[in-house]
Parts: sequence; C-alpha cells; structure tokens
Amino acid sequence: MDSRRGLKDKVALLTGAAGDIGSATATRLCSDGCIVVLTDLASKSDDLRRLRERLLESNPPARILTIPADVTEEDDVKKLISQTVTKFGKIDFLFNNAGIQGPFAPTDKYPSDAFAQIMKINVHGVFLCLKYASEAMIASGNGGVIVNTASLAGLVGPTNMVAYASSKHAVVGMTKSAAKDLARHGIRVCAIAPGILEGKMWDSQVKGQARCRAPAESEDEMIRSQATSMLNGTPMKRLGRLDEVSSVVSFLFSDDASYMTGTITNIDGGRFT
Ligand SMILES: NC(=O)c1ccc[n+]([C@@H]2O[C@H](COP(=O)([O-])OP(=O)(O)OC[C@H]3O[C@@H](n4cnc5c(N)ncnc54)[C@H](O)[C@@H]3O)[C@@H](O)[C@H]2O)c1
Repeated sequence: MDSRRGLKDKVALLTGAAGDIGSATATRLCSDGCIVVLTDLASKSDDLRRLRERLLESNPPARILTIPADVTEEDDVKKLISQTVTKFGKIDFLFNNAGIQGPFAPTDKYPSDAFAQIMKINVHGVFLCLKYASEAMIASGNGGVIVNTASLAGLVGPTNMVAYASSKHAVVGMTKSAAKDLARHGIRVCAIAPGILEGKMWDSQVKGQARCRAPAESEDEMIRSQATSMLNGTPMKRLGRLDEVSSVVSFLFSDDASYMTGTITNIDGGRFT
C-alpha cells in the first residue's frame, strides 16, 4: 500500500466504526500510521473490541482507543471529544460516518417517526460531531480535516427513500457551509458520496426496494431482478468494495488533498453521470 503524506501519528476519530465502512476505514488509517479512536453505540462495544484486537494484531505498534457514544446525545459527543483530547492531546481527523438507512416506502406512506429518527442520527448526529470536533481542532491551533459520509442519495433522489435522501442532501449542504466557516482555522471539510457497495446496506436496500415493487413475481425473483437492475444502472456493473471507499477517505485526510475543501467525492462506479 502506498503511504500517503501527512497521516503518520495523526489522531483520527471514526464514528460508526463498528460498521462496514467504519471498520474498513479504521483498518486503512491504522495501516497508514494514524492513531485511531473508534466509536459506535454502546450496543456495538463487543464489535469495537474485536476490531481493536484485529487492528492491534496486524499493526503491532498501533495506538487504538474505543469509546462508546451515541452521536445523537450531545453529552456523549462532548465526552467523546474531550476523552480523545485528554488521551492523545488533539484530534486531527474526524471521519463523521455513523448513519442509518431506515425503512423503504413511497413518500405518501413513509412513517413519520422513522423520518424523524433518520434525521436525528444522519443530520443532527453528524452536526454534533462536526461542531465539537471542529471546536477542539480550533482550540489546538493545528487545523484538521473532517470527512462526512454523505451518499449518492445526497445528490439524487432515489425512490422509497425520502428520509435517507433528505438526510444525505443535508450532509452535503452541511459540508459546504462548514468548509467555508472553518477554512480560516486551517480545517478542511469534505464529504464522500458512495453509491452501491458490498455489505449490509446493499442487502437491505435490494430487499427493501424489491418489497416496494408490485409483487407480480415471487420475493426471491423480485430481489434478484432488483439487484440486477441496480447493477445495470451502474456503468462499472459491479458493487464498490469497502477498501475502495476507505482509500478515498485516507486520501482526503492526507496532505495530498491539501487544496480540497467543501468537495463531495462520488465513489459510485459512474452511477452519478
Ligand atoms: N454501505 C453503503 O452502501 C453506503 C452507501 C452510501 C452511504 N453510506 C453511508 O455510510 C455510512 C456507514 O454505513 P455502513 O454501510 O458502514 O453501515 P453500517 O450499518 O455497517 O454502519 C453504520 C454504523 O453507524 C452506527 N450508528 C448508527 N446510529 C448511531 C448513533 N446514534 N450513534 C453512534 N453510532 C451509530 C451503527 O451502529 C453502525 O455500526 C452511513 O452514514 C451510510 O449512510 C453507506
């Protein structure tokens, strides 16, 4: 793996670290030489512990801390930031990645409590982490980099996903505004917009979308044809790998991306073209 400029010994905080993209990115940043702080819900503590053990095994000198936190709880987020700064003296990078997909239903039938919950996690949670991490970066006087996880659904409006699309469009707007606010402090703020990737969200999206279609075929056939149609709508005709996301995050954190801020980087096999 090529080493990137400016990653070694940097303190990187990753939210949603127990999940597919979070754990792949933790793996990448560890091998880049970052000190990593892994956070996720308390219910994911065992997954975080196992991830930490795996990372320590493959990167013996690594420094890795796990802190359970709910990103929608302001006190949890404040503690997460202050514990990181107490332990390592600073935060250089925030991978602001925790998020949920929610149920699938057309707009007129979309459950309003699910809409509120998705906005709480995907928008307010992302905002709280952005706010308190940038405050700590400003206090350190060393600048920093924040990468928010948006989605292709933050650039287009997929059917049956009104809440998720709204939340990810908000992350795109938040990224652009924060980039302007924070540039004078030497803080870059970027977002990634992944398309369809291998992992749990692909499985739930294919099933969720298939169930919203007229049930003219059997469920298995609907799921198969939904997967085929989504792959056919992707010029590269395949799912993205998780390491194809983590390598972009690593690049955005690095000095190789030093003139990039407010940018939304699609990682989608050409789907948004
Ligand atoms: N996988 C994809 O295809 C895909 C595509 C585009 C965007 N995304 C986005 O990427 C991000 C990561 O998704 P993933 O595919 O790794 O999903 P995942 O479900 O594997 O991981 C998401 C993680 O976020 C955590 N989380 C949820 N609510 C939380 C909360 N309130 N506080 C703290 N942590 C919380 C979950 O526990 C989980 O570990 C999400 O923001 C998602 O919307 C994923």
